[in-house]
Amino acid sequence: MKVLVINGPNLSRLDIRDSSIYGDLSYPQLVKLITDSASELGIEADVRQSDQESEIIGWLHGAADTNTPVIINPAAFTHYSYAIRDAAELVKAPLIEVHLSNPLSREEFRHTSVISGIANGTIGGFGPDSYRLALRALLTLLNK
Ligand code: DQA
Repeated sequence: MKVLVINGPNLSRLDIRDSSIYGDLSYPQLVKLITDSASELGIEADVRQSDQESEIIGWLHGAADTNTPVIINPAAFTHYSYAIRDAAELVKAPLIEVHLSNPLSREEFRHTSVISGIANGTIGGFGPDSYRLALRALLTLLNK
């Protein structure tokens, strides 16, 4: 079983982002944690990161065409990208939104997610464990 894990803008620079919000892992360490956790569950995770809306939209189109489940941390695009929302809506396999932090406990502009409405569910606030929980939730959805 395969899952496409998409990480949005600035997540590649966890090394210089606020560790009190995003934790201590660098992006390469986060990728390893995701791929290792996935393989423990018998899932092959294809983990990608982009700072560009159009690239993320292309990956979502690919997931729609291949019926591939998606775990997505849209990062700042979460809060305003209707284009990513529309592309994510095309994915008919399960799609789970994740966040390292809990956007609802932060600045007001982070309280809106334009993605949540088309996701099967949203997991945030658990640091890297948000991805682990999303992988488990995905497995449950796929085994239904
Ligand atoms: C984030 C939360 C977003 O508000 C922020 O713009 C990010 C990361 C998170 O994982 O906590 O870049 O998606």
